[in-house]
This record gives sequence, C-alpha cells and structure tokens, in this order.
Amino acid sequence: MNDYLQSAFSGWGSVALFGSGLAMPYLLRRTRGAKTPYLRRMWPHFWLGYLAFVVSFMHAWLIMRGGNMRGINAAGVWIATVALLIMLWQIVVGLMLRNPSQSNRRALRRTHFWTMTLVAGLIALHIALNRP
Ligand code: HEM
Repeated sequence: MNDYLQSAFSGWGSVALFGSGLAMPYLLRRTRGAKTPYLRRMWPHFWLGYLAFVVSFMHAWLIMRGGNMRGINAAGVWIATVALLIMLWQIVVGLMLRNPSQSNRRALRRTHFWTMTLVAGLIALHIALNRP
C-alpha cells in the first residue's frame, strides 16, 4: 500500500473509531431492563477509545516516518499533535470514570464530555487544513 493510502486509511479509521466510541454511551444508556450495570456494559466504549488513540498515533507515525512534510500545512499538524495529547488526557479521565465508587463523577463527566467536544473540533480543523 502506498503512503497516501496508508495515511488515508489510518486517518479515516481513527475518525470512525472516535465517532463510534463517542456514540456508545448514548446508545448503551438507553438499554432498558438491562441486568448488567451501565459501567460494565460500557466496555465497547472503553476499547474504541483506546483503539482511537492507538490508530491516531499510527496515523501520525506513518506520515512522520515518510519524512517529506513539504507543502503540508504546519498549523494543521500542530493541531493534530495537540488533539493526540488531549486524547491521552481523555483516557486518563475515562479510567477515573470507570471506577464505580468515583465520588467526583459529575465534574469528571462534564470534563470528559467537553474534552470530547474539543478533540472533535480539533480533528475537524486538522482535516480541513491538511486534506489533499
Ligand atoms: C476517544 C476517546 C473518548 C471519547 C471521545 C469519550 C467520550 C465520552 C462521552 C461523550 C461520554 C458521555 C458523557 C456524558 O454522559 O455526558 C463518555 C462517557 C464515559 N466514558 Fe468516555 N470517551 C473516550 C474514552 C474513554 C475511555 C478510554 C474510557 C475508559 C477507560 C472512558 C470511560 C467513560 C465512562 C466510564 C463514561 C460514563 C460516565 C458516566 O456516565 O458516569 N471513555 N465518554
């Protein structure tokens, strides 16, 4: 597979993982009459979150490895780098939320939600600035 296809597949793959991961809490919350507690049913959300980070990192690494960054919008690349770091922070907050006896749930949930909005905005900007 050539460099263009590798970066396109990994880039759109991470968008798909991010999008389907963030839909999970809203889909799983609605399941009525479920016997398993909400936080235990949320495992697809956790794994899609981890995978979105790993695939985004691979996407960045594949492009950097090519070494030829000429003509690429630098602001877009910086925005993507910041988004990747914030995704790591999102995982840390998510790990705290996984704890059923978390006493700070309200504030952490709000932080987790607004972090998602910020990352989604940064990803949209990165795509707008760096698409071929
Ligand atoms: C790309 C990464 C992620 C995104 C975009 C994301 C986004 C979200 C969103 C939008 C919600 C619903 C927030 C609300 O109800 O207002 C949520 C809930 C939650 N997330 Fe994530 N998340 C990510 C990764 C993770 C990871 C890796 C974990 C755990 C290891 C995690 C754990 C949780 C938990 C436990 C909840 C439920 C909180 C509750 O309702 O009390 N998230 N996430």
